[in-house]
Amino acid sequence: MTNYKIAAIPGDGIGVDVTAAALEVAQAACAGPTTLDVTEFPWSCDHYLETGRMMPEDGIAQLSGFDAIYLGAVGWPEKVSDAVSLHGLLLPIRKEFTQYANIRPHRLLPGVDGPLKAEAFDILCIRENTEGEYAGAGGRVHQGQEGEVAVETSIFTRTGVERILRFAFDQARARRGKLASVTKSNAQKYSMVFWDELTQKVARDYPDVEVTSYHVDAMAARMVMAPESLDVVVASNLFGDILTDLGAAIQGGLGFAASANINPDRNAPSMFEPVHGSAPDIAGKGIASPLAAIWSAAMMLDHLGETVAAARILGAMEATTAQGIGTRPGQNTTSEITNAVLQAL
Ligand code: IPM
Ligand code: MN
Repeated sequence: MTNYKIAAIPGDGIGVDVTAAALEVAQAACAGPTTLDVTEFPWSCDHYLETGRMMPEDGIAQLSGFDAIYLGAVGWPEKVSDAVSLHGLLLPIRKEFTQYANIRPHRLLPGVDGPLKAEAFDILCIRENTEGEYAGAGGRVHQGQEGEVAVETSIFTRTGVERILRFAFDQARARRGKLASVTKSNAQKYSMVFWDELTQKVARDYPDVEVTSYHVDAMAARMVMAPESLDVVVASNLFGDILTDLGAAIQGGLGFAASANINPDRNAPSMFEPVHGSAPDIAGKGIASPLAAIWSAAMMLDHLGETVAAARILGAMEATTAQGIGTRPGQNTTSEITNAVLQAL
């Protein structure tokens, strides 16, 4: 009997709808001796309006005892500015729990018509998730005055870059043995030259992995023109953020894009969330696709070691889209898609 303690943070907007769907599917896939003991946290923009905080002061401490965190979506700019909501909930969890590897798979589910001619691509993006352009180092001087200055400095540490590269090389080794390292060292002569040097250094420990460096602009073009040429892609925080929205687009849209914020050392919980946001315009209408959220729940089970349950969920999702359910935005309701996945399970 294994009982996993899961912290659920449905958050804002459609995050609420898709979290319910994803956890229902995860529970069903775990039938038998494995159970998920879910504790729900109401942390969200509404919570901010009530309490003045996105999560309580000891929020991180409250989450630290869980085996995993499942998050729906954060943000509702009409209620709370994004800079406040995301820096109050999502981003601190990634940083405080050293979830340094953000994993985002990009491939077409059966029956889904992406915008590209290419069908057979299977890309795993590995995004650095704790530093780089998101380090939060900076400030504003002379605020509101004519001479105002804003500075935001990227931070690349040897520890941070090496560990994400090693993680990506390990993933490439376990897949098709190809790694693309995303850089911009032709323009950024400190951070990205450093990134390239460390890519070459770590590569020496992985002679079986074929590594190529691509500038981020060329990578954007490659993901559209030749996505089948890519296996594992590793990128800094902001480059990875941008490229994974592109990855979502080529796999049919954000409604299919899953993600896992992993602490590979397992000394704190990892967090699982769909890539899409809270979509306030369709919140509460019951029409958001739960597929990205369900896929993220499968990644959570996989991380917990429930590999069979995770594979069953992916199979059930594939069976669902192969029947033509949930293949296009707005085609089916949240519950129609969820029920089809449960049926296929
Ligand atoms: C993502 C999102 C977040 C990010 C936002 C909401 C801060 O775009 O998870 O990709 O930039 O990391
Ligand atoms: Mn993003």
